[in-house]
Amino acid sequence: QRIPDGVGLADYEALARERMDPQAWAYFSAFAGKGITARANVAAWDAIALWPRVLRPVADLDLTTVLFGRAWPSPLLVAPMALQQLAHPDGELATALAAAAQGVGLVLSAQSSVPMEKVIQAVRGDAGRGPLWHQLYFQEGRAATLEQVRRVEAAGFEALVLTVDASVRASRAGVVPAGTGAVPSSASLREVLQQAPTWDDIAWLRAHTRLPVLLKGILHPQDAREAARLRVDGVIVSNHGGRTLDSAPATALALPRIAEAVGDALPLLVDGGIVSGTDILKALALGARAVLVGRPVIHGLAVAGAMGVAHVLRLLSDELELSMAQCGLRRPADADLDLLQASSQ
Ligand code: FNR
Repeated sequence: QRIPDGVGLADYEALARERMDPQAWAYFSAFAGKGITARANVAAWDAIALWPRVLRPVADLDLTTVLFGRAWPSPLLVAPMALQQLAHPDGELATALAAAAQGVGLVLSAQSSVPMEKVIQAVRGDAGRGPLWHQLYFQEGRAATLEQVRRVEAAGFEALVLTVDASVRASRAGVVPAGTGAVPSSASLREVLQQAPTWDDIAWLRAHTRLPVLLKGILHPQDAREAARLRVDGVIVSNHGGRTLDSAPATALALPRIAEAVGDALPLLVDGGIVSGTDILKALALGARAVLVGRPVIHGLAVAGAMGVAHVLRLLSDELELSMAQCGLRRPADADLDLLQASSQ
């Protein structure tokens, strides 16, 4: 596939829709309920203003980002998204190669359509790559979860991302547990809830792996506090792109409250509706250490495989650098609330 001339970030969604088969498109673009949360995610980033600072020296601007004691080239990661071969035959392999080439991190979905060992082997040795993390659902009980954790550790992933906001969700077929993908089998709500994890399982998991553990899908500040109390290593503020609870708050609203509740106790990441470099900068200013991008990556994948993903990630990184320069910031970590509030102190 070729990337048509002059294509920018805003064009990818429409191009992807043209190229994907309708069923795949329906899966990737789905949202819960009326789409209230999915729309709110985008609108909430849009509603935030950036207050630029001028005449500051930014010639040595770079995107270096420290996570879990290691410096990475960028504060960007690809969000875990299931079944990427539905978007392109190269699937997760293309996404991983493109992310590594751009210095962007990767969170591989529990429902990768390419085996995790194959994905990590393709990119692990790349010196300029970003973090390689693996996402899990805690669904089938502790023994099955531990088996999965050991496989992820053996493959060489550098952190575990436990998704906690999708233990149960609605689908056209009825209620489905996490990790049942595009063709779910229905079950009774009560059956599904029998399997749903609780905080005890998080404490248990934290005690059973040496890898950093992040919880993905935290919105309430008190849940973030509980995560910190249980020595979870990081929190990803997320509403699953508006695909689970419709009417959950936009992540741009939840993030600052969580940052206020937990301070520097653990790194915060965020995703949901981030589609531009200025969105990323706003997230950093609100307290995120790094940012995950989901659907824009799938659109790049559908349009032109690894080349499309690399292009989307390049455009996002370039926009981030440009907006940092325009705001007088040299490092992602230099972004703070003053960028949004313009205090006179
Ligand atoms: C997802 N998401 C997701 N999350 C997760 O933890 N495990 C998964 O397997 C998936 N699968 C998945 C598939 C598809 C098609 C989408 C769109 C999303 C949620 C994802 O990681 C992220 O939280 C959201 O997509 C929000 O980011 P965007 O898409 O608004 O940038």
